Amino acid sequence: MSNYAAANKEAWEEAFEVHKRGRKVDLVDVLLAPEGTFLDAPVLAALGKIGVAGKAVGQLCCNNGRELLSIVKLGARSGVGFDIAANFIEEGRALAEKTELNGRFVCTDIADIAPGYNGAFDIVFVSAGAMTWFQDLGAFFEKASQVLAPEGYLLVHEIHPFVNMLATKDEPGFDADHPDKVVYSYFRADPWVETDGMDYVGGTTYPSKPFYSFSYTMETIVNAVAQSGLTIAEMHEYPEDISAGFGHLNDRGFPLSFVLLASKGSR
Ligand SMILES: C[S@@+](CC[C@H](N)C(=O)[O-])C[C@H]1O[C@@H](n2cnc3c(N)ncnc32)[C@H](O)[C@@H]1O
Repeated sequence: MSNYAAANKEAWEEAFEVHKRGRKVDLVDVLLAPEGTFLDAPVLAALGKIGVAGKAVGQLCCNNGRELLSIVKLGARSGVGFDIAANFIEEGRALAEKTELNGRFVCTDIADIAPGYNGAFDIVFVSAGAMTWFQDLGAFFEKASQVLAPEGYLLVHEIHPFVNMLATKDEPGFDADHPDKVVYSYFRADPWVETDGMDYVGGTTYPSKPFYSFSYTMETIVNAVAQSGLTIAEMHEYPEDISAGFGHLNDRGFPLSFVLLASKGSR
């Protein structure tokens, strides 16, 4: 495990109780409610296109699995979630048990996913705030490609790289009169180092263990997927924030999130 991954594991495990306190909904209640889901409309639309029924689904950086279990609920045959934080993985297991949804959870660095999972999934899902932990995005998508079955699909719903140029409301560069002011380089290569917590659930800050994340350009993302042996089928950009930091810019003409669909076979 890299030094970055080891530090981030500690910071994520520290965040577990903070997230639990910050939640406004009961995860089991939502998953058991007939129409309850933790999936956003763009993900539901993409899943509708590629089909979920009877599929084996894997999620990289699944956190507590609430999104993965929402996919299982749509009719997938099975779900396996991978995440580095042991307590979030335990919570995922408890959620699967309480909801009787067929989800399994594996505590691992994505880089260390066991070769036994190669070719295991018809759909590999990557959602908001997953890519940013990986210095080498090429290696991340190579892992996604490896664990996909021959005709499988990679579905990414992520924060748009445009967002990395902006300051959040609690950052010094934030200008309330110009919340869209460009503050950071689009081409930033240095890691972000933060120690004020990762409470995107309750919106609080707290003195935290240091954690390290990375920005990417759209070029880096597209090339990393294309060079991992996958064929990009389509991409869509959306004016809605999925990072929990830029909701004030929703629907104002800025690209805040995107969906990328890539297939393993050439279609
Ligand atoms: C923001 S969550 C993303 C998942 C999902 N969108 C969510 O909100 O639940 C990021 C997750 O990535 C995990 N993570 C960070 N670095 C990792 C690594 N190297 N390997 C596996 N998981 C990692 C964290 O533990 C955390 O649960």
